[in-house]
Amino acid sequence: MIKVWDGFIRGFHWLLVIGIAVLYVSAEEGWLDLHFVTGYLVLALMLTRLIWGVIGSDTAKLSSLIHSPKAALLAIRNSDQNVGHNPAGSYMVLLFFVLIVVQLLSGLMSTDDILVEGPLVAYVPSAWSEIASELHHENFEILLFAIALHLLAIITYRLKGKNLAKTLLTGKEHNIVQKPRMVPGKWAYLIFIILSVLIMSIWGVQPLNALIN
Ligand code: HEM
Ligand code: HEM
Repeated sequence: MIKVWDGFIRGFHWLLVIGIAVLYVSAEEGWLDLHFVTGYLVLALMLTRLIWGVIGSDTAKLSSLIHSPKAALLAIRNSDQNVGHNPAGSYMVLLFFVLIVVQLLSGLMSTDDILVEGPLVAYVPSAWSEIASELHHENFEILLFAIALHLLAIITYRLKGKNLAKTLLTGKEHNIVQKPRMVPGKWAYLIFIILSVLIMSIWGVQPLNALIN
């Protein structure tokens, strides 16, 4: 068995899934303090993933996600010889990153027009925050669609005999021809903790207090 996903990529994925679920439920229920606190933690998580995409393990690298459409089509037909995300999956991952960044940035500028506003609303023209609130709503629909596609792809691979979810849980895979270079995930967690503390101390104190009391 050879390690293909470092500890942070695995943690990032499952924390992201929990984060998005909490963000969805809290928005639906109108628990906006929880929505904000979770939003800030997911912001720190996503920023860490992008930094890890530059300094992290080979399979975390953003540069390893860039492939030609031809390579993606070939990968759909033949998925065996591959380390990390295959070229088709890479398009999905890049789409997720763009959708999540748009969701986070638009959230920071969103307002419910009554009581609650994101921390950047005060700094942008009101037309911007109107567009951002609309975008925050519409983009989430696209994100839901992408999640459905993602799950469909994983089920399809499972039916073809490839258990990707197990690989993402254990981080290990057999039949790997070339060993990827790994960087210990603990460094990424350190970056995540520093960014979380920084963002929470700037924007998170008030919603966190409201949540605790
Ligand atoms: C909110 C829902 C979800 C989102 C937003 C999401 C997002 C992502 C992202 C961004 C990646 C790329 C990871 C990286 O390189 O950092 C990924 C990979 C992956 N996800 Fe998800 N995911 C979701 C739910 C799930 C669920 C429920 C499963 C399992 C059943 C799953 C299984 C996987 C697997 C197996 C991979 C690795 C694919 C590969 O081998 O190339 N995901 N997901
Ligand atoms: C990946 C991250 C995020 C996700 C998935 C998410 C998801 C959502 C969803 C589904 C809604 C309800 C939209 C609607 O029904 O119109 C919403 C509303 C909202 N979100 Fe987010 N959000 C995220 C991040 C953020 C962040 C970082 C902030 C600000 C700090 C934020 C602030 C708001 C505000 C102010 C609303 C409006 C509530 C309302 O209209 O009643 N969100 N969000």
